[in-house]
This record gives sequence, structure tokens and C-alpha cells, in this order.
Amino acid sequence: MNAILKKYKVTTLSEFIIERQADFPYATGEFTRLLHHISVAAKIVNRSINKAGLADILGTIGTVNVQGEEQRKLDYIANELFINSLKNSTECCGVASEENDEIVNFEDEMSREGKYIVCMDPLDGSANLDSNVSVGTIFSIYRRISPRGEKAVLEDFLQEGQKQVCAGYIIYGSSTMLVYTTGKGVYGFTLDPSIGEFCLSHNGIETPKSGKIYSVNEGNYKSFPTGIKRYIDYCKEESPATNRPYSARYIGSLVSDFHRNLLYGGIFLYPQTHSKPEGKLRLIYECNPIAFLAEQAGGKASTGTKRILEIKPTSLHQRIPFMVGSYRLVKKAEEFMQEASVNQG
Ligand code: AHG
Ligand code: MN
Ligand code: MN
Repeated sequence: MNAILKKYKVTTLSEFIIERQADFPYATGEFTRLLHHISVAAKIVNRSINKAGLADILGTIGTVNVQGEEQRKLDYIANELFINSLKNSTECCGVASEENDEIVNFEDEMSREGKYIVCMDPLDGSANLDSNVSVGTIFSIYRRISPRGEKAVLEDFLQEGQKQVCAGYIIYGSSTMLVYTTGKGVYGFTLDPSIGEFCLSHNGIETPKSGKIYSVNEGNYKSFPTGIKRYIDYCKEESPATNRPYSARYIGSLVSDFHRNLLYGGIFLYPQTHSKPEGKLRLIYECNPIAFLAEQAGGKASTGTKRILEIKPTSLHQRIPFMVGSYRLVKKAEEFMQEASVNQG
């Protein structure tokens, strides 16, 4: 009988968080509520994405966000859904979102008492939506610095990535998964639509120390720094003894490229280019959460010269050069950057 029951034992996200509450000594249920509200918004976004083509919610809304990028209907919808759900949790006093120029304060009395703030990219890779390619949501949770009971302030959101108490993403792919860490390993939950629950499917994700996949937009090759060009050339060299040439895999959605490399091994790079001298990806709601997850899974994340999680943010939408993935692959790319800077004197 046990064997049959064991086969059907599911651990939902809420059960898992409560079981692991001991790992998170500061929470007396506040964190559990906050993560629960993130998972609720994720399910609603998932439902919207799954029927997007039928519900006239594909395409753009004719506005440009603070990034100078065209906002898509689902960027707007996902942003509103996550902001509302975080507000309803009353555990979060404010949000920094890719889609909002400034921080969003939750002014109600209970939220002002909230001990957490959230940075998020509500819909990552949204340019892929109309072509049905997988996209994601990225979130990052900090304990606030400002006193509880007052409004959240900018400094609450400009903390170094190593201060995160939680980071995660949802990938709306062939299946919908929520992957998160609180600094005690990385755990993956797959949405079971038949019961509407995220169920534990990856009980401790460890990324391979090396790999055979490199992910970069090679259309920008000519404007990459020399060290990056040399590393990409290295990935392409024939060297069976060191598993090269590697395979080029690039979806154009950070969450999807990162998730594949996390499980299979690989490196993702978005270096600085002539048109984007600071790189394209944003530090506080793309690079920091992904870097926390990568390190917790045994990987590495840097600008090519600096560890991502030690960078002190200076503005909400600050961009930085980014490389993340298997430890040895990122280390090798950093060595090429180091060598190039020595040669350039
Ligand atoms: P977003 O959709 O949130 O703006 O993010 C898109 C990002 C990231 O998901 C992806 O890795 C990168 O843009 C792809 O950029 P390119 O199209 O320039 O390669
Ligand atoms: Mn993004
Ligand atoms: Mn986005």
C-alpha cells in the first residue's frame, strides 16, 4: 500500500515552505504568505499566457517603458497582477518593477508594516510571446532597511544582491515551473494544472560544474570586448579532449536560457556592446536574482570582472554586463577577460 501512496505523494509549494520554515528563522509566516501570493499571481499569468492568442492580449500597447522598450499587453497585465498580489499579501511594503519608472509604494497600514520589499521583472523575454516561445517572471526579495510602518524608500531597493533573502523565477514553458532559493539550495516546483498547485519536482538543483552549451547573441560579436570575443572563439575551437566545440543555444529569453543551462550545464553571456556599453540586463531584477540562484546551485555569476552579488546598485534600472552558469565555464570566460585587459595594458 505504501508503494502506491508514495507514488502519489505530492509536496505543494506551501507545504514545502512551511516544512522548511526552520531554514528561515526570521519568518513567522510572513515569508510564507509573501511567496504564496507570488505563486498565485504566477498561476494567473500562466493562464493568461496559455490563452493569449485567443484573448487578444498579444502585441503591444503603444507605450514605451523606462527602458525605452515597447510595452506589450502581457507585460502590462503581468505587472498589474504581480503588483496587486504583492499588495494583497500585506507582507511587502513596496515593489521595484522593470515596468515602473519609480518604486511602487503600498500605502495601506498593514503593508507599511511589511518587512519585505520585492524587485521584479514581471515578464522576461516578452518579445518572444507572439511566437509562442517560453518566457518567464523573475523576482528578488529583501528585508527592508527603512523602519516598518513608514513608506519604503529607494535605499530599500538598492541593496547588494548578497543581501537577498529569496530569489526565484517562474518559467512559462512546456510546463510551468517555479524555481526559488532562500540561500539553502535551489528547489523547483512544477504546476499541476489538474489541482492548480505548484508541486515539488526538483528537490535540490545542482548545476553541472562544466558543460557544452554557450548562450550569447552572436549578432553583437563585432562589438564585444576582446576578452569575450576570444572566449567565444575558444568555445568554437575543435578540441575533443575538452568537449569543444560547444553547442550554441540562444532563446532570447533570459529565464529560458538560464533554466536550460542550470539543468544541463552551460554559460549565458550578455556582455557590453557598442550600443549598450553597460550591457542590456538589469542588475536588481534580472542579474541579482539569477546570480543568487546560480551560486546556490554551485555555479558562478559575474560581470566578467566582478562578482554580481557584491555590486552596490546605484539606480533601479541600472544595466550591467552579465555572465552566469557552470562554475568552470564562467571562470574560463573571466580568465579571457583578465588576459585581454593585461594585454591591453
Ligand atoms: P525583457 O523581455 O524583460 O525586456 O528581457 C529581455 C532580455 C532577456 O530576457 C534576454 O536574455 C535578452 O533580453 C535578449 O536580448 P537580445 O534580443 O538583445 O539578445
Ligand atoms: Mn527581462
Ligand atoms: Mn520584462
